[in-house]
Amino acid sequence: MSVGSAMVVSIQSLHPVSLCSLSKATERPVPKLLNPFFLSQSSPLHHSLTSTSASHVSTLGPTRGRAISMSLQMEEAATELEPELDIPSVVEITIPPESLAGFEADYERVSATWPADLATTVDDAKIEQFVSSAHALARRWLPQEVVSRLEAFIFDPNEPAALVIRGLPIDKELPPTGLDCHVKKSGSCVSETWLVGIGRIVGQVFTLKYLRGSRTGMGLLVRELYTTPDKVESISAEGSRQLLDMHVDFFQVGPELFPNVIGFMGIRGDRNKEGKTLLTENRKLYRMLDPADIELLRTEKITWGGAVFSFSAHVIEGSESNPRFNIFEENLPGVGGFENVVKGSPEAVAAYKRVKAIAATIVEGVWLGTGDVLLLNQKKASHGRSPYAAKYDGYDRWLQRTYINTGGFWQAGIVQWPSRTVPYP
Ligand SMILES: [Fe+2]
Repeated sequence: MSVGSAMVVSIQSLHPVSLCSLSKATERPVPKLLNPFFLSQSSPLHHSLTSTSASHVSTLGPTRGRAISMSLQMEEAATELEPELDIPSVVEITIPPESLAGFEADYERVSATWPADLATTVDDAKIEQFVSSAHALARRWLPQEVVSRLEAFIFDPNEPAALVIRGLPIDKELPPTGLDCHVKKSGSCVSETWLVGIGRIVGQVFTLKYLRGSRTGMGLLVRELYTTPDKVESISAEGSRQLLDMHVDFFQVGPELFPNVIGFMGIRGDRNKEGKTLLTENRKLYRMLDPADIELLRTEKITWGGAVFSFSAHVIEGSESNPRFNIFEENLPGVGGFENVVKGSPEAVAAYKRVKAIAATIVEGVWLGTGDVLLLNQKKASHGRSPYAAKYDGYDRWLQRTYINTGGFWQAGIVQWPSRTVPYP
């Protein structure tokens, strides 16, 4: 692939994150300012906003129609925009520490009731107790404006593809990044509480049986993403030096099991800020495609087939205004590479190849530091990871991940409540 870190658009460098003036609605009166929080947005819209002479940047919904509050100057800036620039790919919210001043004591009180083996248990009842109380903690301590935004994220088509919440306090003592780090961290589950609690506000957190293994804890709900020396060249979440190209996780599993949203929690950011989660927003990609390729990939399926797997899908689905893409990373370990795995008519395969190549040219990068959460809507964006230089000294990049959808697997009888582990494969 032709994409490297140099092509990654850094949201941080283009759009400095503004400090918020968020208030915890339950404890403090809101907003001294008309706008309850500042956002950093990865779009020209943000340039327009920040370039005004307003003394503060207003909270802005992702579309003109959804502006939560907007000064007159903002309104003027927004009306000058072309429609296609309306919705940013990423909206960032920074939580000020003072609004979470009592969180730690509340967490200690609640977590004292959790089972001692929470990090490693696969007992559904124990996991549900954790999910329920993490949900309550997150709702109690996040500002109401943020809770409302999270509740809209999966359901409102005008919400952005990605939401970043920065500044959450996590575990004070962290073990070195590396094997079994989550087990070594057990007894203190603050990051998992935020990740699962926020995920539960967005929808239903769940996992696939496929993900069982040593890097998964909390009843498989939380997956640890970090690199190890033996995987340095691996094209996967476990590698570091190679690009993990744009893809959509588990699009092949069907609607009830599809991870609609991926939640990432930053435990340690890459110290050089090279290791980022990449995303390509679907509407931006769609607009760059040849209409003939769109037509072909909406009507002809691609089959991905290897020695132990085979599945087919239309590469492009969804509406014109909210198109969906089914993009696979054919270079994952054991998959076999594009030429060996992708099957279909020569025209459709060539069109799919063009989609992947174009997707790689419009990536945006999100660096996650300690206590930063990224929610990524897989119906609105594909994702990947930029290459970075790991040192394997215990201080490399470490993220946690969970999957979120609306719990259709229970209604479909695929698993019984309260199990959150669905049978794939
Ligand atoms: Fe992925």
